[in-house]
Amino acid sequence: MSPCRLAVLVSGTGTNLQAILDQLHGRDGVEVVAVASNKPDAMALERARRAGVETGVFERDGHADRAGRDAAIADWLEGIGVDLVVLAGYMELLSPRFVQRFRDRIVNVHPALLPSFAGLDPIGQALEHGVGVTGVTVHFVDEGVDSGPIILQRAIEVPYTRDRSKLEEEIHRVEHELLPEAIRMIAAGGVSIDADNPRLVHVDSNSSG
Ligand code: GRF
Repeated sequence: MSPCRLAVLVSGTGTNLQAILDQLHGRDGVEVVAVASNKPDAMALERARRAGVETGVFERDGHADRAGRDAAIADWLEGIGVDLVVLAGYMELLSPRFVQRFRDRIVNVHPALLPSFAGLDPIGQALEHGVGVTGVTVHFVDEGVDSGPIILQRAIEVPYTRDRSKLEEEIHRVEHELLPEAIRMIAAGGVSIDADNPRLVHVDSNSSG
């Protein structure tokens, strides 16, 4: 089977990208072939360059609007030939046309148990709400905000002290396991969306390593 060609979209530090590069790149049937950023100074770009992965920067400024910029990203990715697009700390919404061009081939990692705390600052929202349990979700991306079908979730207890940096640290630790795990399963063909209920994702547990 030819490897699953992965593109990763980033905006910032890129620790999730690093987890993908360290755990999956060049093995488990996965090849990271492109990293695109909307921020030219994202540290994630440096991580990609170090791994010898092609990078692209797509700022809003160079385009008439977000849809135009997203079309440029989609054209670039199609030119390279990409099977799966992973949003790893990509801090902008993708326009509907982009989602349509990569329908059911875009995944996102979100630092909360969706559908709770969608949108911005989910960790802050969870602390503000006073929940005892939050977590991490990996889901397919649709046209909504963090609303696509859920692939994997893992719960995390909020520390009694409500210490934000401690919770962030634990969330990142779990993200760095869960996102590569979901990608590995998709690459192995073990993830499918139910034909009758498009909210429902079937995961073949044999496909996880
Ligand atoms: C992660 O917590 C991700 O869930 C959120 O943004 C953060 C990105 O971190 N959307 P990094 O750039 O992967 O280090």
